[in-house]
Amino acid sequence: MRTFARSLAAIAAISALTLTGCGREEAAPATDDSSAATGGFDAGAAIGVALPQKTSENWVLAEQLFNEGLSDAGYEPDVQFANSGVSEQQNQISSMITNGVKVLVVGAIDGAQLGTQLQQAKDAGITVIAYDRLLTNTENVDYYVAYDNFQVGELQGQALLDGMEAADPEGPYNIELFAGSPDDANAKVFFDGAMSILQPEIDNGDVVVVSGQETFDQAVTQGWKAENAQKRMDTLLSGNYGSTELDGVLSPNDTLARAILTSVEGAGKELPVVTGQDSEVESVKSIMAGKQYSTINKDTRALVEHTIEMVNNLQAGEEPEINDPDSYDNGVKTVPAYLLEPQIVTKENAAEAYENDPTLAELTK
Ligand code: BGC
Repeated sequence: MRTFARSLAAIAAISALTLTGCGREEAAPATDDSSAATGGFDAGAAIGVALPQKTSENWVLAEQLFNEGLSDAGYEPDVQFANSGVSEQQNQISSMITNGVKVLVVGAIDGAQLGTQLQQAKDAGITVIAYDRLLTNTENVDYYVAYDNFQVGELQGQALLDGMEAADPEGPYNIELFAGSPDDANAKVFFDGAMSILQPEIDNGDVVVVSGQETFDQAVTQGWKAENAQKRMDTLLSGNYGSTELDGVLSPNDTLARAILTSVEGAGKELPVVTGQDSEVESVKSIMAGKQYSTINKDTRALVEHTIEMVNNLQAGEEPEINDPDSYDNGVKTVPAYLLEPQIVTKENAAEAYENDPTLAELTK
């Protein structure tokens, strides 16, 4: 038997030192022109918030929190979802610019497809904050605010190993890998974080990806859609797991984790250890019922609160606080970032993890 070397508790410390992989390269320090000109603006100004599709609960909650928080702070919020896709989001951002917003907060569907709109924003003197997802291949993004995506992946990878070991101390373990939507800049970073933990175990034979589908491109789930993950899991099961046991599945978020569990249940197989992310209500219930193994707590309230604090700084003509100036290279520049720390949640620590969240705390009783 082999014990996995790294514990979840050690990951926070490790991740501070191992910032590698797409979007997390060690890059040159931010140059002066990477931050916005901070002249300040009118206290009652319009603030635009462009959100992607409602692919997980965190986005829906963000809409409500931005509307309430920005209004309470005296601004005029313009918060829009782009459920029809990229061109809708492009049009929404153009309208926000025309309507005179002073700050644009963007949770992009595809962070690489907003170059024209972000150039318009820059020309209009608007400060652009990438929210949760990085905006890529543009110099016209001033700040990034998010939970540490690479660390999310590391926590997921370690939880998968820990869960499988707890279920059966004897390896080797059979697993499958799922990633998020390839147009979302976070998806590769989550996957790379998880693989930084899993790859050594795959290389030494303690963990086996039975289908052989080990690359990001093979693991992606277009649009973060549950039906796509379920379909792929169905195919993986019927093609590879006749009498073979499936011990674990790396799932990048809760929506996909539940789809994967549904597929395995449908195939009549024993449920594997499945990871997740977002602390969605149905997944927290599933964790408490002993089905889904883990999720990640990325409290949307804290993320929105920090974003509004950045808006307040900009309004007052101050430079917003940054705690990670050089990890997020978007292909054109290093975007000054403020990163919050994600937390792994299993049945074991759920009550403690959610004690400040009345809705989720109730589910852990
Ligand atoms: C977010 C995740 C979320 C996913 C799908 C990502 O960009 O960081 O929290 O699960 O989008 O909505």
